[in-house]
Amino acid sequence: MGIALIAHGGAGKWRPGSDDDALAGLTAAVEAGRRILAAGGSSLDAVCATVVALEDNPIYNAGTGAVLNFDGFCELDACVMESREARAGAVSGLQRAKNPILVARKVMEETDHVMLTGDGAQRFARVMGFPDHDPITPERRADWFDKRNRLDEVLGKHALRMRRFLQDHPEYAGGTVGAAAVDSHGVLAAATSTGGVTLKMVGRVGDSPVPGAGNYACARVAASATGTGEFVLRSLATRAVAERVERGESLAASMEAVLEGLGRDYDADVGLIAVDATGMPVARHRTRDMPHAWFCGDGPVAARMRA
Ligand code: GLY
Repeated sequence: MGIALIAHGGAGKWRPGSDDDALAGLTAAVEAGRRILAAGGSSLDAVCATVVALEDNPIYNAGTGAVLNFDGFCELDACVMESREARAGAVSGLQRAKNPILVARKVMEETDHVMLTGDGAQRFARVMGFPDHDPITPERRADWFDKRNRLDEVLGKHALRMRRFLQDHPEYAGGTVGAAAVDSHGVLAAATSTGGVTLKMVGRVGDSPVPGAGNYACARVAASATGTGEFVLRSLATRAVAERVERGESLAASMEAVLEGLGRDYDADVGLIAVDATGMPVARHRTRDMPHAWFCGDGPVAARMRA
């Protein structure tokens, strides 16, 4: 079977001047996954290693450097899924974790559940041996102060309906990281991790931790979504891609059809990455940017800001 892996650093309007950093971080992360797959390792290990590298890189909105919610703290969401037995694990609302994707993996491997949230997820992380970690960086804290102050001018104190505002101000949207891979045994896996949307309401859960919405893997396709999660949740976008592939459409056509629907129904700022069982990586997005990197077979890692 052909091995392949693709990863993204979030759909949206990437901050000006940092394209090279975005692509370098993704290239290094995909290299970490490539080494595992090339040595005969599993797609699950490969996507987790890729996402850990992105979570540890503070320029992306996941793990260390994640965006802050309306009250000024992080609530981290993540999901991992593997095609074997359709196994999935997820966490939402983690406040003190270095690598939410590894906690999600523990939920999958060590519990009977699929998702743990909030205090329960944090307690589980501690029981599993993950030390508390403050993901807030000084840059994100300063960014939060700036945006929060300007938001009060525009919306007043109770920013309960953010959609129009985020459409008008895409620089406020968060981003997400994710990876999808197929290994030499034909097993597919996907992993997705995010801080969610900047200034989100406390308790808001997006698409990333929800299997079939922001993250999905089955025998035919593994996919990760990025962009405003409410649209991805309402369309179950990654599962919608998989259904089209299962009906015989190509992966690229399936992703384009799902994004076309998201555009028609919501004018949604969404992007997708995916691989199919043949080892074909594909990226598509409705945003200006979606930094992504990929490799397939014994080829090199390539990276681009736009598909
Ligand atoms: N797609 C990430 C989020 O909306 O939370």
